[in-house]
Amino acid sequence: MKPFLIGLAIGVFLLFLFINFGSGFRPEQPISFNHKKHQEQGIECTACHSYFNEQTFSGMPKTGVCMECHKDSVTKHPDEEKIRQFQKKGEEISWIRLYRQPDHVFFSHSRHVALAGMECKSCHGDIGQSEKPPSKPWVKMTMKWCMDCHTKTKANNDCLACHI
Ligand code: HEC
Ligand code: HEC
Ligand code: HEC
Ligand code: HEC
Ligand code: HEC
Repeated sequence: MKPFLIGLAIGVFLLFLFINFGSGFRPEQPISFNHKKHQEQGIECTACHSYFNEQTFSGMPKTGVCMECHKDSVTKHPDEEKIRQFQKKGEEISWIRLYRQPDHVFFSHSRHVALAGMECKSCHGDIGQSEKPPSKPWVKMTMKWCMDCHTKTKANNDCLACHI
């Protein structure tokens, strides 16, 4: 009898792990952000992702940026209140990043956007139309993807331009 019970317990435990693994890999953003509704208000990408002029990254918006408009309630959406809770606790909203190149790759937003004058859309597609946070990147940013555009635009395709 005993071995059976132990076997059952292990089985249940493994099943539990399995289920957790299956669902746990989908990143869940802390707030159900809607790019489309903000785009329809005429808010520029750069109002929330503002660092590319000087930095290699664009950055995720700080709580204070959201608070500029959401200090008082402007929607009926339950997640709006969460912004004010982060603010009250003095915390930044813990946005999860989907796009992240490996450490051996050098990528600079400043180089592409500020210097070469490229639009966000040419690499990020229609993310501005997303109605809820995507659970995986909209665009697969592989080495081939980088190099194909570099070939087309006659940009540098030396290994050492992108690899450090
Ligand atoms: C009002 C603020 C706001 C505006 C305006 C905005 N974004 Fe965002 N953006 C966010 C937030 C919040 C997230 C994280 C949640 C999500 O993915 O929806 C995000 C996520 C992203 C991501 C994914 C980053 C990652 O690594 O996961 C990209 C790319 C992006 N935005 C590009 C854009 C572009 C391009 C525009 C303009 C068309 C834009 N955003 C306009 C707030 C904004
Ligand atoms: C030439 C292609 C390209 C263009 C143009 C571009 N991006 Fe990106 N973006 C990327 C890549 C590649 C990454 C991943 C970078 C990394 O891993 O460091 C990324 C990451 C991001 C992220 C998440 C990480 C971060 O940088 O904070 C945001 C937000 C983002 N981009 C927004 C924008 C916005 C807004 C614009 C327009 C102002 C823009 N991007 C223009 C290729 C591009
Ligand atoms: C420049 C003003 C402005 C900024 C900055 C801004 N919002 Fe909004 N937001 C609005 C307006 C206006 C609406 C209502 C849009 C509508 O109902 O069509 C809205 C709607 C929303 C909603 C409800 C969406 C829905 O599906 O009904 C959420 C959640 C939200 N914003 C979160 C955020 C977060 C998080 C940030 C910071 C990353 C942010 N907002 C920054 C103006 C802003
Ligand atoms: C849609 C087109 C496009 C994509 C996609 C793209 N780039 Fe670029 N990239 C350019 C252009 C155009 C330049 C030249 C900018 C200039 O110097 O005016 C450039 C320049 C660069 C430079 C500077 C090279 C030098 O020494 O002159 C680096 C590094 C770079 N890109 C890395 C990347 C990486 C890494 C990726 C993929 C994650 C990528 N790029 C994706 C268009 C693109
Ligand atoms: C325009 C930018 C760019 C150039 C030029 C480039 N790479 Fe890459 N490389 C990347 C990016 C982005 C990644 C990570 C994404 C991926 O693995 O597709 C990568 C990944 C790699 C990897 C790791 C692959 C893996 O499976 O983990 C190797 C190895 C590599 N590159 C070698 C090279 C060599 C050798 C050259 C020169 C012939 C080169 N790269 C030129 C952007 C570039």
